[in-house]
Amino acid sequence: MYDKVVILTGAGISAESGLGTFRDAQGLWAQHRIEDVATPAGFARNPDLVQAFYNARRAQAALAQPNAAHLALAQLQSSFPGEVILVTQNVDALHEAAGSMSVLHMHGTLAGALCASCNHRWPAPPELSSNSLCPQCQSTAARPDVVWFGEIPYHMDRILSDLETCDLFVAIGTSGQVYPAAGFVDAATAAGAKTIELNLEPSATHSRFDDARFGRASAIVPAWVAELLDERNRD
Ligand code: APR
Ligand code: ZN
Repeated sequence: MYDKVVILTGAGISAESGLGTFRDAQGLWAQHRIEDVATPAGFARNPDLVQAFYNARRAQAALAQPNAAHLALAQLQSSFPGEVILVTQNVDALHEAAGSMSVLHMHGTLAGALCASCNHRWPAPPELSSNSLCPQCQSTAARPDVVWFGEIPYHMDRILSDLETCDLFVAIGTSGQVYPAAGFVDAATAAGAKTIELNLEPSATHSRFDDARFGRASAIVPAWVAELLDERNRD
């Protein structure tokens, strides 16, 4: 049936693991201004506020457990006879904790630290601060290795070439409001792929998908994975 599946996940897949989404009623962007905590200008203006925002998210993510949706995608990656490319907008490590391999974190990770001075990357300590020293150049220009608004997402060449050659694209738990991720469905459609949205409610781009299933990720993702594996085993 399908030979190459590209999956894009967003904050909705981690919601049932206790991690906040961004645009839901109690979401992160209801509590913080994006321009203060998720832009280079915000970091330049008040680095301690930004470090505190990500230190709090890093601490919360460290306590979170993967849910049935993360586990189902890990099972798909290990059992599906074709190729499964897992792209996430999330900066938590719940896909890896569920057993997923080679996760493409297009918005970076809370687990990573980046030196704004020499571009060195290293595993982030639980708390980053303006006194954190870069192990490479000893400067105090350490920042979370997370892609902020106005910055270029990671792995884009790889992601776009996978979208051009996939025959199934599935978006899970994302509101479809942030590009370039929100445009991935169009690239998949242009490649002739089937496109499915799995979400709690219709996203901003739901009309651009061939199919959609609505519900909590921990329920609808395992059901969809079981169907896909069953279909493939009957081929
Ligand atoms: N199961 C499935 N979907 C859910 C659940 C759930 N339990 N809970 C919420 N959702 C859905 C919401 O309906 C919404 O459509 O998940 C989506 C979350 O949307 P956002 O909060 O906008 O998160 P996301 O799409 O990942 O944001 C994209 O925006 O701020 C930037 O860098 C940030 O990576 C983030 C990007
Ligand atoms: Zn450095």
